[in-house]
Amino acid sequence: MKNGNMKVVIVGTGYVGLTTAVSLAYLGHEVSCVDTNPDIIARLQNGQATIHEPGLERMMSLAWENLSFTTSLADSLAGAAVVIIAVGTPAKSNGDADLSSVEKVAEQIGMLLGAGIGPIIVTKSTVPIGSARRVRTVIDRQLSLRGVECSYHVASNPEFLREGAAITDTFYPDRIVVGTDDNAATDMLRKLYAPILNQTFAAVEEIVRPTENNLPVLVSTNPTSAELIKYAANSFLAMKISFINEMAGLAEKVGADIKEVTQGIGLDRRIGIRYLEAGLGWGGSCFAKDTHAIVYTAAQYGYPMELIQAAINVNKHQRFTVIEKLQSSLKVLRGATIGIMGLAFKPNTDDLRDAPAIAIIGKLLDLGARVRVYDPIAMGNFSRQYPELSVDCCSGLEELATGCDALVVVTEWPEFASVAWVKIGARMRQRTIVDGRNMLNKARLEKSGFHYQGVGR
Ligand code: UDX
Repeated sequence: MKNGNMKVVIVGTGYVGLTTAVSLAYLGHEVSCVDTNPDIIARLQNGQATIHEPGLERMMSLAWENLSFTTSLADSLAGAAVVIIAVGTPAKSNGDADLSSVEKVAEQIGMLLGAGIGPIIVTKSTVPIGSARRVRTVIDRQLSLRGVECSYHVASNPEFLREGAAITDTFYPDRIVVGTDDNAATDMLRKLYAPILNQTFAAVEEIVRPTENNLPVLVSTNPTSAELIKYAANSFLAMKISFINEMAGLAEKVGADIKEVTQGIGLDRRIGIRYLEAGLGWGGSCFAKDTHAIVYTAAQYGYPMELIQAAINVNKHQRFTVIEKLQSSLKVLRGATIGIMGLAFKPNTDDLRDAPAIAIIGKLLDLGARVRVYDPIAMGNFSRQYPELSVDCCSGLEELATGCDALVVVTEWPEFASVAWVKIGARMRQRTIVDGRNMLNKARLEKSGFHYQGVGR
């Protein structure tokens, strides 16, 4: 290992764990990935990325010599300077985040650490407030049961990466948040991320550097602040999206165009243009989970989070606005055939977690419509995860459009922007299109004989 490079263990090989592992290995650290699922480990050992993430497999091959994969935490822990916990924290039915996988890993670490100076234990998964302290309690308990004296630190180091842009977000972050009670631990993590903080790593062509790219700031906080930063960031972004969607509803009533409104407000640097795309609202694994979790946490203190709750309510309704639009155009949906363009919760991923498409399809089926679906990469996941949804799965847009009374853009896949609409329209029973992501050219569609409805336009 070169000077400054460390031995890192990453537990959990989901989106966060695998992306972090591959990125740190690319920076020169010796990274061991641990996952309890032997199938996942076997595929990773064969160089296959187990999640769909642009650039990941390429980075994996570039970083290959620094990567190892195992199901055994015990085998990888010896000599590790940093152990990163990146296992899942799914939402419980009451909205709270489920910490049991994190606790299980902490327990194992406590059972394995030897006497002397131990590693820094880092929580990277989005964890409830107080988790860093909880992890320490669990580890300490195991150490004291064995009578082992080990000096180690716990740090909260939340990630802010977006699916589909995870590698870019890891190499070109706005900031890296490190929450610890110990300066030496902060310094160690500063060293771990030094090539990113100083932007001194060898750039990879496929990983496009964002145009506004300043040196990332290391924000050093106490562990609780770091944990709250993650929830606050995601809640704020979710609120921005719900804000613009609520405004889009009003724009439709008064006859304004939300795209123009967005530009008009977003160019004010105090507001900023990003996360103000009106559409069908947010989906995915994070925004719903984190907004519910922060509302739940606050409720434990009798403190209502009214803005965030309102953002959740707006989002819940937003995805069904396409149904209202279809009803206003087609009147009766029973017996109508509707083509769904896009299933993933956003483009460049095959992830269907909390995807608006699933809720929309369910509602259309309830209303007696026949539903046809197409997504460039999420068809396999869809058939596996939703066998109960009785729909026609199509392998392309022409097939999808055949016999449809309306098409609905649910995911803004880039390929939908360059479609031969006359050809598509010729296959349809009625040329109605609801553009749930405001991605299509209204004038072009109208010229091709379509009745077009966007969001807030
Ligand atoms: C999000 C956060 O961005 C990331 O920092 C965090 O670590 C995990 O959660 P992700 O869920 O991968 O990332 O996707 P993101 O690109 O942020 O989009 C989330 C949802 O919001 C998508 O459904 C997207 O379609 C929607 N969205 C986003 C909008 O509707 N409008 C926008 O302007 C932006």
